[in-house]
Amino acid sequence: MKVLVIGSGGREHALVWKIRQSPRVSRVFCAPGNAGIGEIADLVSLTPDDIHGLRRFAQQEGVDLTVVGPELPLSLGLVDEFEAYGLRVFGPTRQAAQLETSKAFAKEFMRRQGIPTPYFGVFSDPDEAQRYIAEVGAPIVVKADGLAAGKGVMICPTVQEAYEAVDEIMRARLFGDAGDRVVVEEFLEGEEVSFLAFTDGQTVLPLATAQDHKRAFDGDRGPNTGGMGAYSPTPLVTPALADRIVQEVMIPAVKGLRQRDIVYKGILYAGLMVSRESVKVLEFNARFGDPECQPLMLRLRSDLVEVMEAVIEGRLAEVTLSWDPRPAVCVVLAAEGYPGMYETGKIITGLDDLQHWQDGVVFHAGTAKVDGAFTTKGGRVLAVTALGADIPAAITTVYQAVKKISWPGMHYRHDIGQRALLYRATLGQNSSGEAGQ
Ligand SMILES: Nc1ncnc2c1ncn2[C@@H]1O[C@H](COP(=O)(O)OP(=O)(O)O)[C@@H](O)[C@H]1O
Ligand SMILES: [Mg+2]
Repeated sequence: MKVLVIGSGGREHALVWKIRQSPRVSRVFCAPGNAGIGEIADLVSLTPDDIHGLRRFAQQEGVDLTVVGPELPLSLGLVDEFEAYGLRVFGPTRQAAQLETSKAFAKEFMRRQGIPTPYFGVFSDPDEAQRYIAEVGAPIVVKADGLAAGKGVMICPTVQEAYEAVDEIMRARLFGDAGDRVVVEEFLEGEEVSFLAFTDGQTVLPLATAQDHKRAFDGDRGPNTGGMGAYSPTPLVTPALADRIVQEVMIPAVKGLRQRDIVYKGILYAGLMVSRESVKVLEFNARFGDPECQPLMLRLRSDLVEVMEAVIEGRLAEVTLSWDPRPAVCVVLAAEGYPGMYETGKIITGLDDLQHWQDGVVFHAGTAKVDGAFTTKGGRVLAVTALGADIPAAITTVYQAVKKISWPGMHYRHDIGQRALLYRATLGQNSSGEAGQ
């Protein structure tokens, strides 16, 4: 069969890499992809927002399955368009994807379904938002309602900063229409974890556990980014906690949508804040996380294409997932200045050395190929991902590989995976599979 993957990041490289391993797959296209993906798939020069172009391409090429990586095409109704033309596509419809594309929708939905989430107010009037802030005090979080490329959330230590956040989002319209409404939300402390599951709208099938590292610099300092690294499994999510998340968050979400005649198919991703007292949902995403997808794909033993087909056909109850018991760690290599302004076009050295790497894969994110050489073309450039006998071994292996790669200004975090070790040390847990998957 022919498969089309939409997107151009490290996540999509990992998906293409995994999909290619399916014995059922004869050809993989990626639109638009990147230089690394171009080594293993046919690149199609269509952008993820070109819904009609992508649909026409899928029809012309006889694509049997389309897999959507990023949220933008979901928000534009790509899945609805493909389904209307009888094309098989993995991902939620535009309505279902509202769980990610409107934070106000998601919060109000959670309140009605009794899904644990920080207390909040939704406002379309900046004065009202600011009055609410004055009432509840700081620290407080102000979020633009719509998609804002990961920049629409402002953590405000003081009331003054929260007022300014409302001004920027609603009055200066920093994120355009995405700031027509804001969510003002209780600030929570704890450990952030990502919980991902396949769902066909009925069955919820969790993936292995994972934790992302969102801040730019070591020790979780600096600005938020798209993600600087991830590892799987995480000891933070014990089997008991995973079970609780499924029962209290994932199943109520899928069921609540179904009650509204929305069948959610695809990946449902809950971004959670976990503390000793509680588990609360910060947000939902309607797709794989980047970079969580990279360690997850390295560990997944099941045929991804079969799982995706079961989701589309509503047969997920028949499926179980099989995982490599070895942990995987992914380190993102970023351009100088990222997540702010950065330059592109730097020549990347050291990749040849890792072409036949046994213990991992160098997934490409923002790369291009110019005169036979790989160059930088984005903020997040590469996602180096390795397996190891245990987390310390995976960390050692991944950083050995990272050391071989360089370009002027390259930066990365040196402490990916350390939270797993820290947590284990504090709680005195053993190093084996307490997190199950
Ligand atoms: N209520 C909250 N308390 C503490 N931190 C939060 C809260 N909401 C969001 N954050 C932080 O901000 C980041 C981004 O928020 P999130 O809701 O995930 O939006 P997005 O991913 O769309 O930017 C989270 O990963 C988390 O680190
Ligand atoms: Mg998030």
